[in-house]
Amino acid sequence: MPDEPVLSLYNPQQGQEYLVEPDEPVLSLSGLTMYYGQGCPECEGDPGRGGDPLRGGDPLRGGEPERKGDPGRGGAPGRGGAPGRGGAPERGGDPERAGGVGLEKNRCPRCGAIWALRGVSLSLFPGEVLGIVGESGSGKSTLARCLYFDESPRAGTLRLLGRPENAFLLSRQARKQIRRESMGMVYQNPLAGLKMDYSVAANIAENLIAANCKNVARLKQRVYELLEIVEIPAYRGKETPASFSGGMQQRVQIAKAIANRPGILLLDEVTTGLDLSVQAKVLDVIKKIIREAGIAAILVSHDLAVIRLLADRTLVMLDGEVIERGLTDQILENPRHFYTQQLVYSLL
Ligand SMILES: Nc1ncnc2c1ncn2[C@@H]1O[C@H](COP(=O)(O)OP(=O)(O)OP(=O)(O)O)[C@@H](O)[C@H]1O
Ligand SMILES: [Mg+2]
Ligand SMILES: [Zn+2]
Repeated sequence: MPDEPVLSLYNPQQGQEYLVEPDEPVLSLSGLTMYYGQGCPECEGDPGRGGDPLRGGDPLRGGEPERKGDPGRGGAPGRGGAPGRGGAPERGGDPERAGGVGLEKNRCPRCGAIWALRGVSLSLFPGEVLGIVGESGSGKSTLARCLYFDESPRAGTLRLLGRPENAFLLSRQARKQIRRESMGMVYQNPLAGLKMDYSVAANIAENLIAANCKNVARLKQRVYELLEIVEIPAYRGKETPASFSGGMQQRVQIAKAIANRPGILLLDEVTTGLDLSVQAKVLDVIKKIIREAGIAAILVSHDLAVIRLLADRTLVMLDGEVIERGLTDQILENPRHFYTQQLVYSLL
């Protein structure tokens, strides 16, 4: 596995392959906005600098907010973006933006819409692990689902692997292809990522088949290789994930997610709810995969200890907004936002 190139967007057999320069992000997101419910943009009509996402069937087609400014590495706080804002160039939920009623936390008091994401921007660079931390309900899973095209955001621009177009605007088929060949996802809830009545091997093979691997011998070989990587004994491949423990189910999801050697891995609370010893095991597996294969990963967790262990850089989310970003060490040593300070001090 480590000897394979991982940063290709499309399966070379199917045509073009886009290779990414090391200093170019594999994923670059800006202005991602997602709210659930009817009504809103803050109920008064102004969705905030850039097109009414509600107009037209697909909210994004026909008015996306092209925010200026590089979503940037955000590296050191204060680098890029407004000073004093921890380097966050975007603030979708700025008070000055709210032409309407203003939100109560992430909820519109008038129509009840939940603003799960408000102008989230980020970049992910080759081989790095970007941590997303934040309290329950801050929008972390919604972010992961939008990036994996499970949800259609109301606004935002997503550029993948050096390609110029907004991936959110691609056809359903093109999005599916990208997701199949270039992305892997581990869902917070294994039920969302696994078919519980299929065997573990079939679950993993599903992604391989979807990506056009039709040679049965090769398919089998790869499934067993993947089981070995995530440290599941080969003979258990015949069982269904329903009979597996939580940690094992997450490892099956990981095997499935990396099956096609994606350039981008999305991990949503991979270790939450697991015993500490099982957590350590799953984290070890992830660490190994990421370091050896050079995959770029977004690691979502409400647990700063997990982030500390794996993430090079970290974004802190609160009520659908990025409130702080920087190198993980910096955030841990010198948290700026009050919320982050609480989070960090609770870890000590
Ligand atoms: N399908 C949905 N319909 C309506 N509201 C939703 C939906 N999915 C998420 N939300 C709301 O959006 C907000 C963000 O939810 P999300 O699941 O992204 O948070 P999270 O940070 O992943 O939380 P947790 O740490 O508990 O997993 C929450 O207020 C949630 O209730
Ligand atoms: Mg979540
Ligand atoms: Zn509203």
